[in-house]
Amino acid sequence: MSHIRAVIQRLQSLQCAGVEDVAHSRAAKLLEILKSQKKTAQPAVAVVSTVKISETGPRPWEKRVETPSVKPAVNPTTQPSTTPAPGYSSGYGTSKSYGNSTNNRGYTLMAPKRQPLSLEIIVPPHEDYTSLTQMEDRREALRLLGEKVAKCVRCIDLVSNRTQTVLGTGNPYASLMFLGEAPGKDEDVQGVPFVGRAGQLLTDMIQKGMKINREEETYICNILRCRPPGNRAPMPEEAFKCRRFLDTQIDIVKPKFICCLGASAAQYLLDTTTTISRMRLREYRYRDAVVVCTYHPAYLLRNPSQKKATWEDLQFLMKLMGIPVE
Ligand code: URA
Ligand code: URA
Repeated sequence: MSHIRAVIQRLQSLQCAGVEDVAHSRAAKLLEILKSQKKTAQPAVAVVSTVKISETGPRPWEKRVETPSVKPAVNPTTQPSTTPAPGYSSGYGTSKSYGNSTNNRGYTLMAPKRQPLSLEIIVPPHEDYTSLTQMEDRREALRLLGEKVAKCVRCIDLVSNRTQTVLGTGNPYASLMFLGEAPGKDEDVQGVPFVGRAGQLLTDMIQKGMKINREEETYICNILRCRPPGNRAPMPEEAFKCRRFLDTQIDIVKPKFICCLGASAAQYLLDTTTTISRMRLREYRYRDAVVVCTYHPAYLLRNPSQKKATWEDLQFLMKLMGIPVE
């Protein structure tokens, strides 16, 4: 199946690059291939109707499990009904028997044959969010988007790990958007981006450095809306699955400037593998915004010597924005 995985990854990268229609038609073709490959396998339920069911022997969906020669004595009256009969597989605890279970007739119930996941299940398509991007009331648009984000279950690793989703914070009418990587521990608990130690440094960069108000004059969000386990960096497929939410946020807030914080933000937003040190002090464009890139505040906490360079980057941004630089 590795070639199919490669095709799926290729489709996802096409979708990342905005080629959704192509990806959809290819996805449909891929689904057909998956289905035709499965035609050779017998569907499990079809067997049932052709086999005579005997009263005493195993039924078609049951299989006798080997009984050990020495059976421990059991008093049936003291045995709780939920305890499986000794000598029979409980269906749990071994990877071999995973998915099967034993019924009270001593037969193992066969797990239904697994069907391949369809692409629709791997990547449920996003809704059309354009009506949100056209709403006059951007706060309401973001609230509605936040409801959809909170229900998202596209990334199994992230969904099982999150306390809640984290959409964004600040003023949806601001001209400057800061883009981070993903919620961390504090953000996951509070549901607000950049509230931990890195967030405090970002607040200082904005308020002490740029001399503007964080909540009034910026809007802050991330590549991902869920905390990755152990604060690892976002995986490409996670960034891809979350991308429509990010793009919708950008289309609602309509920032004139986007400042990418760190490599994840810069590389995923601009679809490049170029390093931050090569991207800083340059102007990029994304949708209708001028994009600049600088180091992530969490990186600055570990590498304070780069604070000077970051201040240069912020001054570069301030000049572009027409904010006076002292
Ligand atoms: N780091 C990020 O990239 N984003 C947050 O929201 C918090 C920490
Ligand atoms: N690498 C990162 O991931 N982020 C930075 O800010 C700098 C280097």
